[in-house]
Amino acid sequence: MSVLEVKHIGKSFDNTEVLKDINFSLGKGETLAIIGSSGSGKTTLLRCLNFLETPDQGQIIVNNEVLFDAQNAAATTEREVREKRLHFGLVFQSFNLFPQYTALENVKLACELLAKNRPDYKERRREILSEIRDEAASLLSQVGLSEKMDLYPHQLSGGQQQRVAIARALALSPDILCFDEPTSALDPELTGEVLRVIRGLAEKNTMVIVTHEMQFAREVADTVVFMDSGVVVEAGDPEEVFGNPKQERTKQFLERYSN
Ligand SMILES: Nc1ncnc2c1ncn2[C@@H]1O[C@H](COP(=O)(O)OP(=O)(O)OP(=O)(O)O)[C@@H](O)[C@H]1O
Ligand SMILES: [Mg+2]
Repeated sequence: MSVLEVKHIGKSFDNTEVLKDINFSLGKGETLAIIGSSGSGKTTLLRCLNFLETPDQGQIIVNNEVLFDAQNAAATTEREVREKRLHFGLVFQSFNLFPQYTALENVKLACELLAKNRPDYKERRREILSEIRDEAASLLSQVGLSEKMDLYPHQLSGGQQQRVAIARALALSPDILCFDEPTSALDPELTGEVLRVIRGLAEKNTMVIVTHEMQFAREVADTVVFMDSGVVVEAGDPEEVFGNPKQERTKQFLERYSN
């Protein structure tokens, strides 16, 4: 069964079509890597998945539930969008941590806000908050930051901040984790530590990763999608797409990267 199905997604900005008939699906525990040159529509696609942009055409289906259908998009309320967004965890290129909160607080925050809606919150407040704290601490230790939990973002390296952002995305137990060039703002020596964490997550989680790290995509992905000018030019097994690309545009793109 597919966790995520993307069907015929199209999106234009001011009469410019930036996504054209995008289709793919992703099974539980699978990792999809999206590669492609600058401006090809990768970020726009991730933003559409996360309801940060509204597609003009198509459907987004998660666990067989239609989360978005362009044909009746107008009916969706803000509250519904917020709930739907919870299916996805998003990690951006620029970590976007809250500067006034510690690493631990950054990871806990969304869970604490959501917990307030629980019917048993008043009665079990202490217990619930302590569970959230323990879970956040465990996620931070999973990403190798158990020693840094009480530090503020400005006291952490870029790679450490990005690992906090990853723990924060995991905290809400999303069905699908999305990464948009998670290492492109990092120095090369910090890139490795973040890629290691993401590689570890790939074993259990369902993930969509936009990346310029071709070797990483080849190793970690079950499927690679190559985008150019808003279309999926080629998609398939990474060994096929990287080792034996069928389309001329894919060959040209990969040649530029191998130099
Ligand atoms: N809000 C917007 N308004 C108008 N045009 C936009 C908007 N967002 C993106 N675009 C355009 O859509 C196209 C795709 O942009 P997008 O950011 O998705 O590319 P990308 O593949 O993520 O590129 P990069 O590798 O540089 O991050 C670009 O031509 C961009 O200028
Ligand atoms: Mg982008």
